[in-house]
Amino acid sequence: MRYDVILPGPIQPVFNSMKQAFLITLLLASCGVPSPLFSQDAAKDKQKVAALMRLTKIDVNEEARAKLKAAVIRHMKTVTDESEFLTLATRFKIVESNDRLWDIVSKSQSDNNRVVAFGILLELNDIQSISDKVKMEDRPDEMLEAISMTTSLKVIDILKPFLLDRQLSASAKNIAVKGLGRQKIGQEYLLQLAQEKRLPPACDFTAANILLTSSYGEIKSAAKKVMTLPASAGSKPISPIAELVKRKGDAAKGVPIFAKAGTCANCHKVNTEGKEVGPDLTEIGSKLSRQAMFESILNPSAAVSHNYETYIVETIDGLSFSGVLVSETDDKVTLRTAEALTKSILKEDLEGMRKSPNSLMPNDLQKNLSEQDLVDLVEYLMTLKKKQ
Ligand code: HEC
Repeated sequence: MRYDVILPGPIQPVFNSMKQAFLITLLLASCGVPSPLFSQDAAKDKQKVAALMRLTKIDVNEEARAKLKAAVIRHMKTVTDESEFLTLATRFKIVESNDRLWDIVSKSQSDNNRVVAFGILLELNDIQSISDKVKMEDRPDEMLEAISMTTSLKVIDILKPFLLDRQLSASAKNIAVKGLGRQKIGQEYLLQLAQEKRLPPACDFTAANILLTSSYGEIKSAAKKVMTLPASAGSKPISPIAELVKRKGDAAKGVPIFAKAGTCANCHKVNTEGKEVGPDLTEIGSKLSRQAMFESILNPSAAVSHNYETYIVETIDGLSFSGVLVSETDDKVTLRTAEALTKSILKEDLEGMRKSPNSLMPNDLQKNLSEQDLVDLVEYLMTLKKKQ
């Protein structure tokens, strides 16, 4: 009798599927997806965190809770959703979330998340270390914006010193002024600086707009004694932006103002018309609000975009040029001047080069325009929308 050795049938497939599972595990691990081997720990962390979310009295920052805190930290590192991360950061208040919170403050698409993140930072850190962090930024505008949108008395103390900081750009200062202007004691501080003539010129326009339309009667009338807005045609001070935005303009009348009286086309293109010193405005109506449009025209230095910073260049022969930086190579720098001329200067002829705090766009363009001209011009710019 022959006994055939019969291999139990299923072995082969089982082996295969185990091998496959193993390979999938390897693959997932290499893709950064938690493999089943690690996920047990991750699942435990998640359970602990879920329990802690209910046990709101437990403070993981207490020394005796070090292990729980470690689980919280590990779990928070795995959370990619911003809102979920903020919910956890609000609950646990651990300094280990500082870096990610600053990241949200400066980069999040959601203003709400930026403000929530800054609110937590405000609880976790003292005012000095927050100020130091902002000062270390090359372009602190985004951070200052989130700070300025946060309603807290502490914010006033953070923002105040920035106004008088010489290193800070005009655009950053204007953001700080707006933040101060959102609270009564901030407005009082601005008024005091104006009364003592200590308000930096870069802040004049924004501060005057806030104080001259303050809802606090005593601030408004005190401001009227020490502040004025720049004059439009006919030497009459222009009305605050809060009033200009409410007026209705005639877009058709704005077209020739853009090309001629306003001199805008000397520096801006709309479709194929105009020169390219400043940004192309063909779709500006989709980018800026009506309020921001008035601000860009009346106070250009307050919001200079990154790509259009003005540089002042001096040569060893004592010549000086200013313009928007077009390019910089190892041996030369190229600027576009306010007259739309392109100037290249060899590095070997260069004495010095610095960033100007001001926009290349003149800050007194309204002086040749009546208030109605300006309103018509903005009405026109608002019609320049992105084509679908
Ligand atoms: C001498 C050149 C010059 C003239 C004249 C000029 N601009 Fe500008 N403008 C610029 C530059 C450079 C920028 C970019 C830097 C900045 O934001 O200040 C700019 C920025 C702007 C912006 C903001 C654009 C954006 O993408 O945020 C608007 C809006 C604008 N100008 C409108 C006007 C209007 C309207 C006029 C005419 C009343 C005008 N400009 C006249 C140079 C000029």
